Amino acid sequence: MAERFTKSMARNIYLGGSVFFVLLFLALTFDTQVRAMPERDNRDQLTEEVVRGKHLWEENNCVGCHSIMGEGAYFAPELANVFDRRGGGNTEVFKSYMRAWMSSQPTGIPGRHQMPDFNLTQREIDDLAAFLEWTSKIDDNGWPPNIEG
Ligand code: HEC
Repeated sequence: MAERFTKSMARNIYLGGSVFFVLLFLALTFDTQVRAMPERDNRDQLTEEVVRGKHLWEENNCVGCHSIMGEGAYFAPELANVFDRRGGGNTEVFKSYMRAWMSSQPTGIPGRHQMPDFNLTQREIDDLAAFLEWTSKIDDNGWPPNIEG
């Protein structure tokens, strides 16, 4: 057995370690993308309405104030579970809530952060409601941890 730590030993550890971790990375990526994600993200329920809602979400920069599944700004409430919080898990109840909410902004209530009026149509609000309902059904390990976000 060699007494000294040679250059070739160092190289073998470097190369062997690199190959090992690249393979581990590929295996974990495969596991996430091919096995876990399709089970968790309910992609089979992606409707035209949900897709339009997501575009509206982007165009109006809702994430500039809100977080969704923890991502975004912390100026306004988390919206990944607003469907459960304000709609009680019911599509029609949530749509009505969204129509009422979106058309009464800004509330002007002193001491509360204000949300702008986006002047959206009923259909656009329904699309946003569909997007938020779809998002609420993603299996994100129960995030956020409480119903108030
Ligand atoms: C300029 C910041 C800002 C932007 C941009 C914004 N919001 Fe808000 N939003 C707020 C604030 C602040 C509140 C909380 C107001 C309150 O409770 O009085 C709120 C509350 C809400 C609520 C109610 C949450 C609850 O728990 O009842 C919904 C739904 C909502 N926003 C949807 C949206 C959507 C959809 C967009 C994009 C079209 C959006 N917001 C963009 C600031 C913003």
